[in-house]
Amino acid sequence: MDNLYLLELINEAKSRGGGLLLNFEDKPSVVVLTVERYNQIMNTRSSTQVLEPTTQTQMQKQTNIPKKVLVTGGAGYIGGHLVRQLTKSGYEVTVLDNLSTGKKSNLDPKATFIEGSLADVSLLKDVFAANKFDGVFHMAASLEVEESVREPEKYFENNVVNLTHLLRAMHEAGVNKIIFSSSAAVYGQPDHTPITETASLRPANPYGYTKLLGERLIKYYCEYLGFQAVAFRYFNACGFDVDAHIVPTHQSHLIYNVMLVAKGERPALQVFGNDYETADGTCIRDYVHVLDIVSPHILALEKMANGAKFEVYNIGTGNGVSVAQVANATSEILNKIIPMDMAPRRAGDPASLTADNNKLVNNLGYHLQYSSLENIIKTSWEVQSKM
Ligand code: UFG
Repeated sequence: MDNLYLLELINEAKSRGGGLLLNFEDKPSVVVLTVERYNQIMNTRSSTQVLEPTTQTQMQKQTNIPKKVLVTGGAGYIGGHLVRQLTKSGYEVTVLDNLSTGKKSNLDPKATFIEGSLADVSLLKDVFAANKFDGVFHMAASLEVEESVREPEKYFENNVVNLTHLLRAMHEAGVNKIIFSSSAAVYGQPDHTPITETASLRPANPYGYTKLLGERLIKYYCEYLGFQAVAFRYFNACGFDVDAHIVPTHQSHLIYNVMLVAKGERPALQVFGNDYETADGTCIRDYVHVLDIVSPHILALEKMANGAKFEVYNIGTGNGVSVAQVANATSEILNKIIPMDMAPRRAGDPASLTADNNKLVNNLGYHLQYSSLENIIKTSWEVQSKM
């Protein structure tokens, strides 16, 4: 029997108190029972035969039934990479994206695509009514620090108000697992680096503040409304899975701009500030490969069944690299000169952000695999040089 059909039958059986009798050509032919119902019956018939309840993951392994998930922002750069990994791992994926920054070409053909906005409450209702999702990866967001300083209202609307719509729709549909894309921007300028998850949360810009509000909102859903959630605080996402054919969706980030210089499309890299309190005066960031960002997401959903209600993890390497170091490393690795022009500081930039990733390694058991600066630069070049 088709696995998806079987899953539908099991869900139907669950909703009918554990059992379902199917008639074919008016003859009762198949009985579908949930494990709990089966155990109840067997318990009353014989005290010796009891099945252990099967978890969703065990059931998925046994029957190869894909888990069904929603990815908001799945046409984006990180979202697109996540969807590729999910479909490769056998998940049935629906993408909801309004294509405001996401690209159609980033969509995985194996996923179902719904073009629409999280501001559209009735669309959300319909999407959740038509699908029984096992969980939601919420990646749709506005994410540029500089823009958030210029247009804070856009960030509160997209990152907070729209999240309230999503959470309400999930709650009403009985979907209670969410993996949330948060950001290192929630820390602001920390007292110490590398930054642990318990560091003070003092966002230095509206973007970081809206991500912090998002985390808090989700935490309340976990505390009071039966949700389970993981928030991942990304440090600087970069690099590509070159086989995924995903293009960058934001054109302000450092590595994107360095590649433009390497291609000869810009004469020099503008360095926003060289008077920070860092060794060479330029800002320090923790550049982490996008595949090291998306892999823990899948792990987190799979481990959620027995996990805590709300967890926060940094995703970063722990290695701080300055703007000037990125430019110099690119020169060396690509054998191209990257001239630098010193420019004024950019509003909202903290001087130095690097992650303590011990929790990710110890609690989630994820070890970074792709994030050498060399791999980041080479994969970025491979994608951007062809654009
Ligand atoms: N920079 C330059 N020149 C450029 C572009 C960037 O000097 O042309 C500098 C920035 O001023 C900053 C550093 O390079 O000091 C990194 O800037 P990005 O724009 O690449 O990234 P941000 O650190 O500002 O922000 C990114 C994401 C956020 C996330 C943050 C976490 O956009 O969503 O990383 O560290 F929160």
